Amino acid sequence: MRRITKAVFPVAGFGSRFLPATKASPKEMMPIVDKPLIQYAVEEAVAAGLTDMVFITGRQKRAIEDHFDKAYEIESELAGRGKTELLKLVQDIIPRHVNCIYIRQSEQLGLGHAVLCARPVLEGEPFAVILADDLVDAPTPVMRQMVDVFEKEHASVLGVQEVPRDQTASYGIVIAESFRARLEKVKGIVEKPKPADAPSNLAVIGRYVLTPAIFDHLARVRPGAGGEIQLTDAIGALLAEERVLAYRFEGVRYDCGSKLGYLQATVALGVRHPEVGKAFSAYLKEFGEH
Ligand code: UTP
Repeated sequence: MRRITKAVFPVAGFGSRFLPATKASPKEMMPIVDKPLIQYAVEEAVAAGLTDMVFITGRQKRAIEDHFDKAYEIESELAGRGKTELLKLVQDIIPRHVNCIYIRQSEQLGLGHAVLCARPVLEGEPFAVILADDLVDAPTPVMRQMVDVFEKEHASVLGVQEVPRDQTASYGIVIAESFRARLEKVKGIVEKPKPADAPSNLAVIGRYVLTPAIFDHLARVRPGAGGEIQLTDAIGALLAEERVLAYRFEGVRYDCGSKLGYLQATVALGVRHPEVGKAFSAYLKEFGEH
């Protein structure tokens, strides 16, 4: 099995839960304190040793390309004013050895379709998928943990966590059998089941390592839940052919695609921020006392 070098970032969704903020700018550019969600996701991929970042973009998403590009005006302005620390911050957004590839998904036909759009640059290779709106705060970045599992097991790996029963309709839910510590063998997977129909409460969150066999299934699956081409359905079909593992990652996941999760992530990372953490913690304490 080849080594993983590429990460796919599907960023073509509407972000309707964050309207009007996402009317003209991408959800993935929303900052947690001072860094956009997509930058956390790219940093996680880089920490996993990946070198090629494949963004599946759509209309209104150009800010993402600009974010990872050189910014001549800002850089010369900061250099001229002698603001060397800020200049370094802007120049080091992405390491020099990392490449960015942009592919347009011209119709938003679903997450599965977005991943299928990456096929021309991934043929024959295993790859990572990271959904930037799932921010995972972990001592070892979660994609690093998952690439390590892939390198030992040579099988697709889904990042999973238990969710409250009443939330199963927001996730892909797996039926799995314990295999070793933190690892389960996936027996089945279903997209957005109602709590009464859910086979478990083990939910797939926005981290996947997939073998290239997924593409034939993605090309074949019919629109599923919500009329979208679902990655979950292709993974379900892949199960008949290959072993798929569910990995209970270490770390705290914030659903930054929802308002509550976004606010929680802001607080969690805000109190640890080197510049404002102390003052913010003191403010929260004072706020809680009122
Ligand atoms: P979501 O279900 O979170 O949808 O997509 P969304 O459009 O981003 O947000 P809401 O629900 O309208 O608020 C999961 C991921 O799949 C991507 C999204 O960008 C997000 O990262 N996606 C979804 C695509 O890239 N293309 C699609 O056609 C659908």
